[in-house]
Amino acid sequence: MSERLVFRDVRVLDGTGAPPLAADVSIVGERIERVGSVPSGYQEIDGRGRYLTPGFVDVHSHDDAAVLTLPDLEFKLSQGCTSVVVGNCGFGLSPLTGAEPPGNASLFGVERPRFARVRDYLSAVTSARPAVNVATLVGHANLLSSVLGAEERSPSREERAAMRSLLASALEDGAVGLSTGLIYRPGRSATLEELAELAALCGERDLIYTTHIRSESDRLLPAVEEAIEIGRLARCRVQISHHKASGKRNWGKTLQTHARFAAARAQGVDIAFDVYPYTAGSGPLVEYFDPARPDLDLLEVSRIASCPPFPELEGRMLVELAAEAATDVPTFVTRILAAPGGERTLCITFTMGDEDLERNLSHPHALIGSDGLVDLSGKPHPRLFGTFPRVLGHYVRERGLLALPEAIRKMTHASCERFGLEERGRIAEGMIADLVLFDADTVTPRASYDDPKRTPSGIECVVVNGAMAYRSGAISRAGRVLGPRRAARV
Ligand code: ZN
Ligand code: CU
Repeated sequence: MSERLVFRDVRVLDGTGAPPLAADVSIVGERIERVGSVPSGYQEIDGRGRYLTPGFVDVHSHDDAAVLTLPDLEFKLSQGCTSVVVGNCGFGLSPLTGAEPPGNASLFGVERPRFARVRDYLSAVTSARPAVNVATLVGHANLLSSVLGAEERSPSREERAAMRSLLASALEDGAVGLSTGLIYRPGRSATLEELAELAALCGERDLIYTTHIRSESDRLLPAVEEAIEIGRLARCRVQISHHKASGKRNWGKTLQTHARFAAARAQGVDIAFDVYPYTAGSGPLVEYFDPARPDLDLLEVSRIASCPPFPELEGRMLVELAAEAATDVPTFVTRILAAPGGERTLCITFTMGDEDLERNLSHPHALIGSDGLVDLSGKPHPRLFGTFPRVLGHYVRERGLLALPEAIRKMTHASCERFGLEERGRIAEGMIADLVLFDADTVTPRASYDDPKRTPSGIECVVVNGAMAYRSGAISRAGRVLGPRRAARV
């Protein structure tokens, strides 16, 4: 387990955004020993012409179950990803004290297993020994359904107190913050006051509040206001998850959201966001489809990612499928959802504009997070396998949208700072060695919408906790549970 490795003659990007430095980097045990000129006596890795950077942090993953059931996590590790944050969009595997799973959480792969306490989940993660490090948020839907069961209603005063104490013990167990999914059941019924009261527990502990806001389309601006107001009341860092302006009539609204972020920050609200580098989103079909008021514009730009009852539909646009079946799209969707297992259908929705996406990616406070849903049976959104290489290959190399050191900062140092992950995210002597060696001239996400389960090319070595975790496609598992900054514990 204990290794003495040297990456010889690499271009080091330390994660802070500083320009590259030509050096050798040695690792002894789990830590970076030296950055500079390293003598012989180590296992040598020739790094000429390649970049060595901190391992990438996926700040918005839905790998909650995957870290237990698919611990190789090839789809993450092969991208250069060494840590994932789980528990996003209000949903996680813990804490869950009630009999009922939260809302339709099964759609995020979190139906089972589930754990009464965060510490039970984290010890299961430790036993599973996943290939990447894991930090967890506390899902607001978990708090709601632990206290209210399957009922979707406002909690009483006593129930709110019960949710607060459940959250407090989850944070005590090592969760790094609170997440909400205000578009989904049951989180959507929460009021701003209820949310601020919970988020205040994060504020007191210097932890983060992340939010899939109430609308990412027509009501985007009021939804951003709500997030800012929660940050102001709760005095906590606020992270808008997978920030976007969805639906053609909303394109351009990131100009306004960015102006609001700047104004709020000037008034002391620490608000920022993360983004994935694609103009399509993905999620459960059932959440996008209200039979009483079907959103025809959305159905128009949707295709099937995975569909347990009808796998032959995977990869096809709904409009084409409905035309072939000689029916309209809402009727066709109703048929899918009515079939056994149909409620587990995932779709991909082409709803965003390039300008908003590029504006988001180049924003100085943006972080990179995949939002990948672990769905290896159908044709998942290519973000699951391709997020980080797409930023590096397409947006840095091909488009020149952002400089390489800046892109790396948004995947490493800035991510660890924001989520309170200590001793990682930077290449410096004494830091824990989570590292990626890659070729900036060739790095490419081979995953595409039509062929989404391909690992990238150009990512040569990945080191996790000082151990060689990925090299020439071979995987060895060295991930750990990550907690918040020790100084932040109360
Ligand atoms: Zn979300
Ligand atoms: Cu998400």
